[in-house]
Amino acid sequence: MLIRHASHASWIRMKDADSLTVPVFRKIFACRGRVKAASLEVTCDGVYEAQLNGSRVGDFILAPGWTEYSKRLQVQRYDITSMLQENNSLEVTVGNGWFRRTNAPWTGTQNPDEFLPAMLIAALHIVYEDGSEEVILTDDSWEVSKSTVTLSGIFIGEDVDMTLKMEYEKAQTCVYPKNILIEQEGPQVREQETIYPCRSFRTPKGEWVLDFGQNMTGYMAFEMDAHAGERLSLSTAEVLDRSGNFYTANYRSARSQLHYICREGHQSYKPRLTFFGFRYLRIDEAPENFSADQIHAIVLHSEMNRTGWLQCSSPLLNQLFENIVWSQKGNYLDIPTDCPQRDERYGWTGDGQIFCRTATYQYDVRQFFRKWLGDMRAAQHENGWVPEVIPSLTAYNPGGAAWSDAVTIIPWQLYQTYGDISFVADMYEAMEKWIAYIPTVSKTPYLWTGCWTYGDWLALDAPPDYKPATIELSKRGYSNDDLVCSAFYANSVDIVIRVGKLLGRDVKAYEELHGQIVSAFQKTFGGRLNTQTEKVLALHFNLAESPEKVAAALAYQIRACGMKLQTGLLGTPYLLHELTRYGYAEIAWSLLLRREYPGWLYSVSRGATTVWEHWDGIKPDGTFWDDDMNSYNHYAYGSVADWVFGEACGIQPLEPGFARAKIEPHPDRRVQSMSAILDTVQGRIRSAWKYTDNGIRYEIETPVQTEIILGNEKRVVGNGRYIFGE
Ligand code: BGC
Repeated sequence: MLIRHASHASWIRMKDADSLTVPVFRKIFACRGRVKAASLEVTCDGVYEAQLNGSRVGDFILAPGWTEYSKRLQVQRYDITSMLQENNSLEVTVGNGWFRRTNAPWTGTQNPDEFLPAMLIAALHIVYEDGSEEVILTDDSWEVSKSTVTLSGIFIGEDVDMTLKMEYEKAQTCVYPKNILIEQEGPQVREQETIYPCRSFRTPKGEWVLDFGQNMTGYMAFEMDAHAGERLSLSTAEVLDRSGNFYTANYRSARSQLHYICREGHQSYKPRLTFFGFRYLRIDEAPENFSADQIHAIVLHSEMNRTGWLQCSSPLLNQLFENIVWSQKGNYLDIPTDCPQRDERYGWTGDGQIFCRTATYQYDVRQFFRKWLGDMRAAQHENGWVPEVIPSLTAYNPGGAAWSDAVTIIPWQLYQTYGDISFVADMYEAMEKWIAYIPTVSKTPYLWTGCWTYGDWLALDAPPDYKPATIELSKRGYSNDDLVCSAFYANSVDIVIRVGKLLGRDVKAYEELHGQIVSAFQKTFGGRLNTQTEKVLALHFNLAESPEKVAAALAYQIRACGMKLQTGLLGTPYLLHELTRYGYAEIAWSLLLRREYPGWLYSVSRGATTVWEHWDGIKPDGTFWDDDMNSYNHYAYGSVADWVFGEACGIQPLEPGFARAKIEPHPDRRVQSMSAILDTVQGRIRSAWKYTDNGIRYEIETPVQTEIILGNEKRVVGNGRYIFGE
């Protein structure tokens, strides 16, 4: 889509409105003949909902989405041909969305323009049957009023007063850049599923609560009869506390509520300019006779087709697989977020890269990432530094290892899954700038030392008497920060070399650099691979001098501490892969199947329906890990699904995009059967295994030439379906 008309329009605003006012802009116009085709191009500095003659225009929720606003703002174009009448009224309500910080002061400024009032730019283009054309652009002939939405924000939720009468005044044109306008790049966020409450009950405190049975991202919708001035107030929560009461402390400063003042008569409503992460709703106030069956929930996420499915004989594992899918749905709402409920919901680059491989297996996320990587390029600083959240915020830490390395890791993963070289080609310059930045801040040549990092965030291996200087440090376990940073530096340089070769660039200097990093790493850290994560990173990024010995030490260490993982955000995604690669698949399985803390099945056995931020977000005694940083929809540890696809079921690309594949399953008797389906760009790959009386039966389906490795036997097969064993 090309922006044809909107760039000729003027930005308009409401005179004297402050930055939190939610205006509705209006244009009344008549068609001067029979309409052949008509379109609306529109965007705003916030989020909007457009209605034409009382019907919603399009089904893009929270348009125009979140981009690096100071550089890129998406414009949408809607076909409105069938909506036009002789006399028309177009109304566009503009809320704060992601553009303005309505709370969460600790995040600093969300974007330098956040104190500007709501603004709109739009163009209607009408082609008449007689061949003539008409373009209606936003200008001071448009009108504007305060809308029925009296407060709106991503973290706040929405306040609505349906008794308000619109008082329109002339809109004002204003100056705001138009060179930031870009075509729509990402997939649209749409309503995806409807969920009805499975339980309506009173908590011990007497609160009236509805349980939807699924932690989700979206909003509530209701229909009822009411008198003008009656109120419906709803609060959201992900979990109940151990007494069974409604628990919201983990939302921190995100109010996350809907306050609705009714008009007279029959009415239905759903929030128009915000979203919530929730499983439970508390009905704080309701019109008389309001009942639970008048309300339902609507799941929102970016449009993406499902491509991967896991299924096995263990109900707990199946629930884990479901939870991982739900955490992707919950956190792929226009950008990949860390969590969808508390006062963050940011595009944390670390979480984004950790989960990226799993994401590409579960859904087709090509368009989703193409847009976000565009924002990453736009947000990268001149000196090469990549912010830790994309779109960027102004008041944050300097990002660093594993977070900023998303600039190399994500495009490389997209290329592996989809075989589309443009993912790495488009990012090559950004990757080169990033690895050129590291030596400018590092204290040691060929290593990455002395810099800010989140380290192995949330690792469990700090000794009990460890008293770090800051709270931030207390959350990152005991792995050596310099080692962690240097390992990711080596990996990013390695990716730049591989991409450079693909693109036919001269990569000699990078190869030399990589050699120097590896030897500096081995010299400095080779004898000091103490924690599980230190070992895992050295193995995963091929930095260990004697990988077999390191892997054996890792296996020993895990057994010695009672078959427990101690890794944080950085070690965990690679842990099972490295154990399997060096012959310890049985330990990888033990970790996966562990039902106690710390383990993937612990949250599942506590009734989780999405992946938790902390293994023990709810402790065995029912108390919480903490109020401060305790999300129940945090996909990072869900990255274990790529081990299940890639190792347990054994599906790997031998060439990017699965142009050739390898299938080398690693079954384990503790699970009777398992199957993975992956709809690759080449077609469907299926790998299933099942323990039988006679051994194991494998069923494999592949659309491409594939190496099938079962135990010590390797065969190369063409496309087809194969059964081995009985
Ligand atoms: C987020 C994480 C993120 C981290 C940075 C947290 O508050 O929720 O998932 O990566 O900050 O360490």
